[in-house]
Amino acid sequence: MSHALLQELNGLESAARTALAEVRDEACLQAVRVQFLGRKGGLTAVLKRLGECTPEERPIVGQRANAVKALLEAEIERVHSTLQAGHLAEALGDRMDVSLPGRAPTPAGYPHPISTTMERIVGIFRCLGFSTYEGPEVETEYHNFEALNMPADHPARDMQDTFYLQPLQSGAAPLLLRTHTSPVQVRVMQSHPPPLRLIAPGAVYRRDADVTHSPMFHQVEGLYVDTDVTFRHLKGMLQLFVEQLFGDAVQTRFRPSFFPFTEPSAEMDLGYLRDANGMRFARAGDAVTGWMEVLGCGMVDPAVFTAVGYDPTQVTGFAFGVGVERIAMLLHGVDDIRFFFDSDLRFLSQFI
Ligand code: PHE
Repeated sequence: MSHALLQELNGLESAARTALAEVRDEACLQAVRVQFLGRKGGLTAVLKRLGECTPEERPIVGQRANAVKALLEAEIERVHSTLQAGHLAEALGDRMDVSLPGRAPTPAGYPHPISTTMERIVGIFRCLGFSTYEGPEVETEYHNFEALNMPADHPARDMQDTFYLQPLQSGAAPLLLRTHTSPVQVRVMQSHPPPLRLIAPGAVYRRDADVTHSPMFHQVEGLYVDTDVTFRHLKGMLQLFVEQLFGDAVQTRFRPSFFPFTEPSAEMDLGYLRDANGMRFARAGDAVTGWMEVLGCGMVDPAVFTAVGYDPTQVTGFAFGVGVERIAMLLHGVDDIRFFFDSDLRFLSQFI
């Protein structure tokens, strides 16, 4: 059958295909859709004229009209997806090199092992009722030495040689990088009446450098002032402290020592084992191969109480200064203090 409407449908189909081949964007595609399939479009016009057909022709023309409609809809959909894919490619750039290695996510930061060790030490003393104080790292000679019973000609100053700074005004009191956290004791006692229980964590400086000494290191100072404080309180509290820190099986040793600001004075050592695998702290029963000094301590010297305005006949107290790096070395089996300050991520990332 070669009804005129069938020929029109054929023409419509090929015209639509030609138009679709030219489509470059969505707006154009929409125009083609309206032109051929819209309410006033070519296909609707043909369908309106179905009445011109005989009853025999009508279903044939109708079927053909439906087929052309389905075909064009499919074709429009295909062009639509192609356009979408094109937008995506454009958004991704001209060329994509899928063989390039991915960009690693920025690694998250984490605390330095010295910070975590310091926090653990502070945490234990906070549980024992000590409050935390901080003082300046650039100190006066008075707070760092004189008030602590270390006058200018005292031989104990030799052990704590440090870095001196030019005072801003000529004739002003000499300034230095503090050699220990003990000046914080002086500052807090000058501004607070007894009783006192304080810890003071922070960085300190000395003219020292070898495997167990760094020119900058960290201490946690402790001070306990009340009436009737004895050496037994000091020893008991420090023993409790290391048991909390390492587990109850560590080996400790108290050695008589000298500090101008405490009398009597002692040093506490922790036993360690060193073998081919490195170093670790000794547990009860281990045959200790060496002792590491981890803190200095003693009963506060009456001269210090006098210097800060406390009455040495009324109060007694003990003080101690813990070396944070030494504790960290024993906690983690690190046998050279300098690893902590090299900023080498191969070392530091082991503490994540
Ligand atoms: N300040 C001393 C030092 O750095 C340690 C210490 C603190 C000793 C408190 C006794 C009392 O060596």
